[in-house]
Amino acid sequence: MSRIAYVNGQYVRHADAAVHVEDRGYQFADGVYEVCEVWQNKIVDMPRHLDRLDRSLNELRIDWPMTRSAVEFVLREVTRRNRVRDGLVYVQVTRGVSRRDHFFPPEDVAPSIVVTARSTSPKAAEAQAEKGISVVTYPENRWPRVDIKTIALLPNVLAKQNAKENGGKEAWYLDADGNVTEGGSTNAWIVTKDGVLVTRPAESGILRGITRAVVLDLVQKEGLTFEERPFSLDEAREAREAFVTAASTLVMPVTRLDGKTIGNGHPGSVATRLRELFHTATDLRAV
Ligand code: PDD
Repeated sequence: MSRIAYVNGQYVRHADAAVHVEDRGYQFADGVYEVCEVWQNKIVDMPRHLDRLDRSLNELRIDWPMTRSAVEFVLREVTRRNRVRDGLVYVQVTRGVSRRDHFFPPEDVAPSIVVTARSTSPKAAEAQAEKGISVVTYPENRWPRVDIKTIALLPNVLAKQNAKENGGKEAWYLDADGNVTEGGSTNAWIVTKDGVLVTRPAESGILRGITRAVVLDLVQKEGLTFEERPFSLDEAREAREAFVTAASTLVMPVTRLDGKTIGNGHPGSVATRLRELFHTATDLRAV
């Protein structure tokens, strides 16, 4: 079965899927995106992802390429046509195709939309979660509007590649005050020596992760002690455990930071419990 992508109104073979060379996403990274988890043929937290897409589009003054319900339909349809049972569905919207010019294009230029979906292996993800991942710190090098989920991900690419070249799976950005902001494509959490869960407030320096929000709900339901505040690299080094969250990783334990073990070097009990709870709670959030 060949993969299918959706490009500007058409379902096409993934191998042939293409946008124009003068698409503003290609020329200027002038666009936004979302990644949703697909779980047992259902898309998880789609309303929250589309709310964030709406916010990102508004912040950049890009129109919806079609109605929200049409986007919902296409996300489901691309997932279905690719027979993705467990995996990820990706949607990208750019300011459209127009002669290269930094100014916004004329009013009649329609935004572009691309949707793809691919399967992932739940077994491989669980095996990774049982081991945990290593993260490698990197100086914060992004623009201040990281609250907008733009496709301009070059700084994230460089931070993550640096992590990879140093034995890590994720980068943790450090701001000028020595605080961890977030991962290259995840939100960052620690559990302090005293058992307090800490994650940075979403008001500045991070993307307001959907997985983060769901985990915060679970944390409150479980009655766990938590603080939304910045945490420093030193605090992270001393932490009992650490983990990251994203639609692509769910709750993923972090067991090494810059080559040194965190806690006892194994996935922590809080992260492991939250990962389990996340899966249980997924059923209610998937449509
Ligand atoms: N990344 N922070 C950054 C910088 C991200 O790129 C992401 C998501 C997150 C977590 O957000 P959420 O929980 O809504 O997935 C935090 C996606 C998965 C990606 O770029 O592939």
